[in-house]
Amino acid sequence: MIYANYAATTPALSPGVTRELRSYLGETHLNAARNFEGLEAGAIALRARKALARLFGAESPLQVVFTSGATAGLNLVIQGLVRPGDHVLATMVEHNAVARPLEALRKTGIITVDWLPCDAEGFLDPQQVRQGIKKNTRLLILSHASNVLGTLLPVAECFSIAREQGVFTLLDAAQTAGVIPLTRELGADGIVFTGHKGLGALAGIGGLVLGEEVSQAMRPWIAGGTGSASASLDMPLFLPDKFEPGTQNTMGILSLAVSVEELLDIGVETIREQEKALTSRFISGLEALSNVRLYGPKEPDHRTAPVSLGIQGSDPGEVAGSLFEKHRIVTRSGLHCAPLAHKTAGTYPEGTVRFSFGRGSTEAEVDSTLEALATYGGGPTSGFRVPV
Ligand SMILES: Cc1ncc(COP(=O)(O)O)c(C=O)c1O
Repeated sequence: MIYANYAATTPALSPGVTRELRSYLGETHLNAARNFEGLEAGAIALRARKALARLFGAESPLQVVFTSGATAGLNLVIQGLVRPGDHVLATMVEHNAVARPLEALRKTGIITVDWLPCDAEGFLDPQQVRQGIKKNTRLLILSHASNVLGTLLPVAECFSIAREQGVFTLLDAAQTAGVIPLTRELGADGIVFTGHKGLGALAGIGGLVLGEEVSQAMRPWIAGGTGSASASLDMPLFLPDKFEPGTQNTMGILSLAVSVEELLDIGVETIREQEKALTSRFISGLEALSNVRLYGPKEPDHRTAPVSLGIQGSDPGEVAGSLFEKHRIVTRSGLHCAPLAHKTAGTYPEGTVRFSFGRGSTEAEVDSTLEALATYGGGPTSGFRVPV
């Protein structure tokens, strides 16, 4: 099988993660009473927070807050930060994890939202941010890279414009954490990540790194017990407890601790170079295929792994199904939970077939995928749609 769907989730855990999870289940968890489970869970969480703080350049491990994934992290900030009458800016390439919570607040009349236009390849002109900011703009949310087109957004420049005008900034790094170096220099008040993609951890764990100012401005979205300041009926005001009520997902957190430590050993720059080489090889190979159209940028420095394609005269869902049945190639077709990005690329509503190679992929797999793709298309129907 060829797995070309890393943008959705990572297919296999590293041996280190599997080993430590087994040992946790076999020893620590089964002997919870003897090992003072609470203490052990706290130690695991601190280990993960330290690794993640290094990965994201956070000053303190306590700035790392765990959630069930990027969706919960994005909602935590959106629901906790905006107030009635606020205005929020986001882009036309956002995932529904951003688009749906914002639209729900907009439709109930609580906030106004502007979706900043990107060009057909997904590029955002930072001037759009400058022009889009209003007196009541509270928050700018940017996806670091489009999960449909692979396009990297000019986040540092956009965030600097927003922060100059007192607007909070939130980075959705679901597609880039563990693949592209991410540091505080990007200027984000919050960085949201998920475990099961580039970080190589379990599904159902993720979180955010929060700056001091934004964390003070946010209300806790979910309230409950934290094991701290228990005499008070109010949530503690300090991080991470303010945003981490309830029993934590210790297995998920352990998987993050181990996978991020491994990532730091390898170096995110090294992973980025490997990913760039594979994606460039794939995109160069596509040039020889007249039946295939690439949506999104070609230049490796301007993009990350997701490569969205249209196959002449063929339905994306049928191509993806056939790629799996005939060639055992796993891709993802349709709208990829990002309908606005497809409207931007001109591929709405039919979507595209998305290929994304990652850490476990090989050059031979890329070449076999190109060979398989050469056998598609060329049918009698209308051909490609032109981006609008
Ligand atoms: C850009 C982007 N944001 C957010 C998410 C949501 O991540 P999760 O499902 O882990 O909450 C995804 C997942 O596909 C994504 O690609």
